[in-house]
Amino acid sequence: MKKSVRSFFSPVLALLATGILLVTATATPSKKFELDRFIDPQTCGGCHWEIHEQWTNSMHNLSHKDPIYNRVATFLRQGLIEAGEIAEAESCVKCHTPVGTITGFPEKFSDDLSRTPEIATQGIQCDYCHSAVDTTQMYNNGLVLSPGHGEEDPGIKYGPFDDAESDFHESAVSDLHQSAQICGTCHDVKHVVFGTTLESTYTEWKNSPYNDPDPEKRVTCQGCHMYQRPDVPATGSTDRPENPGAATDDSMERPHIFTHYFVGGNTAVTSQFNGLEKRDMAVERLENAAQIELNTDRLAKKQMDVVVTNSGAGHSIPTGVGDLRQVWIEISIQDPDKKIVFKSGFLDEKKELPKDTIIFRTVFGDGNGNPVFNIAKAKQVLSDNRIPAMKQVTQTIDLGFVPKKNSVITARLLYRGMPQELLNQIPGSPLGPLPVVEMARITQTI
Ligand code: HEC
Ligand code: HEC
Ligand code: HEC
Ligand code: HEC
Ligand code: HEC
Repeated sequence: MKKSVRSFFSPVLALLATGILLVTATATPSKKFELDRFIDPQTCGGCHWEIHEQWTNSMHNLSHKDPIYNRVATFLRQGLIEAGEIAEAESCVKCHTPVGTITGFPEKFSDDLSRTPEIATQGIQCDYCHSAVDTTQMYNNGLVLSPGHGEEDPGIKYGPFDDAESDFHESAVSDLHQSAQICGTCHDVKHVVFGTTLESTYTEWKNSPYNDPDPEKRVTCQGCHMYQRPDVPATGSTDRPENPGAATDDSMERPHIFTHYFVGGNTAVTSQFNGLEKRDMAVERLENAAQIELNTDRLAKKQMDVVVTNSGAGHSIPTGVGDLRQVWIEISIQDPDKKIVFKSGFLDEKKELPKDTIIFRTVFGDGNGNPVFNIAKAKQVLSDNRIPAMKQVTQTIDLGFVPKKNSVITARLLYRGMPQELLNQIPGSPLGPLPVVEMARITQTI
């Protein structure tokens, strides 16, 4: 890696910065920077316009503004009195508003977020990721940054190329940017006091076959998520073709330019902010993640198996906020007279799921075995039946009757962001109904 020490830094600024470092060093262990060391994404977009366009209104760009996150976080924070629970409920900004936290405001979720500096409201952004040089821990955002000093002296931007040249900034090749760790340090979340695992996308990936010991065969987060573009879902069950092009209009052709849409399963928020492109890409990703099959050998015994395979995700399905995301099985059996004789997993008029629905998710507990919904109170993982990468799960359905010959069985695997029951409890204008996406479907006549 090219090292360079530049001294554009004026003595006055240096003094100021040292003063601030001394003050904050005692107050908080994480290193703080002056806000003006970070460059607005718009400036990067002046040259890297395609990358900027892809990132605009991605969930990274929206991590601070995301209305669902904001409403849920406000709701979870309310009424807490225990210090450990409060500490957790306040910690959200470290990942959702990272440029703000590292430059001093907001420090916690209950700060007056309307005072968040404009640049920090733009979420997880260019100069944040491309100033990263190391990680201190692989959870709760342990990124170590080495930003430049604003547009006058942008410093080194770290990326995948060892021969990049730009008139604007220095460049250096970085192993971190080419590894799953740059993503993993934020995509594994632990309770800040109780240590409970709240999100484990990175660990799920690390323990999956995609983390091949041979670097040539390894499929990192970037290997799927930074190959996706419209009509190219780039999942484990599809091709992941390279995206030839150039990083700016004037730079050399490269075999692959990593895309920056950062699409997961979120169709609700992305479509609220920029219409249809990213919503459609999330649907394409979900449609190429899993398969559903039926085993009807035991129908005479009034039983049937539904088999779900995680064929496309590099981690569990669902991943991320696995306590909120709903991936479930909907089944119906229609007899030869077109009468529905069996139903499971159908949303009711209130858009809620019946209690006996087969849902793949994590459930947190209070430490005494009672389920808790608020992550701030989560002292244990009570259950986790999500589907690991490249694994298959079988669910046996007790029908209670033997279906007639020529009945039609339909099973669907469905996805939505979170339960309507939760959204209904959140004060303010009603949220939802959230879109439901069909991940997989099978129809079989017996
Ligand atoms: C979440 C972190 C993250 C954010 C936000 C981000 N990038 Fe990147 N970017 C990466 C990673 C990681 C790579 C390299 C991937 C690899 O090598 O596997 C990359 C690659 C690049 C490259 C090299 C060309 C390419 O795409 O392959 C450029 C240029 C770049 N990013 C510019 C930007 C700009 C401009 C923005 C803001 C509009 C931005 N990045 C936002 C993580 C990020
Ligand atoms: C004046 C134009 C210009 C601006 C503004 C600009 N870049 Fe670049 N950047 C380039 C060029 C040219 C390259 C080289 C591309 C290549 O070699 O393929 C480059 C390369 C990169 C790389 C790849 C570095 C590597 O070694 O892999 C990253 C990352 C990057 N830029 C990030 C940024 C970020 C972040 C910003 C905003 C803070 C930014 N750029 C602003 C022109 C610019
Ligand atoms: C083999 C391809 C592949 C790899 C590797 C991969 N993903 Fe995914 N990812 C997917 C697919 C497919 C989905 C949609 C299904 C789902 O939500 O699980 C997805 C969804 C997601 C979501 C949205 C989850 C939700 O339901 O809310 C996040 C966040 C995510 N991935 C992050 C990551 C991170 C971080 C890594 C690396 C540690 C990674 N992914 C590695 C394919 C991949
Ligand atoms: C600074 C912390 C941070 C880093 C670094 C980071 N992410 Fe994220 N990522 C987030 C947060 C926070 C969200 C959720 C924003 C929201 O939903 O409001 C998110 C959302 C996503 C989503 C969309 C999930 C969905 O439900 O649609 C994907 C995909 C994703 N990240 C992939 C990646 C990949 C790939 C990398 C590495 C190149 C990465 N992230 C690096 C914090 C981070
Ligand atoms: C260590 C980083 C990190 C911290 C801290 C963090 N999150 Fe997140 N958050 C993420 C990532 C990564 C995702 C994307 C996962 C996914 O899409 O499933 C996410 C997604 C979410 C979502 C889903 C948003 C949507 O639009 O569906 C909610 C809600 C959320 N976080 C709430 C919170 C709350 C509340 C806190 C604080 C108590 C918090 N987060 C703290 C990393 C973090």
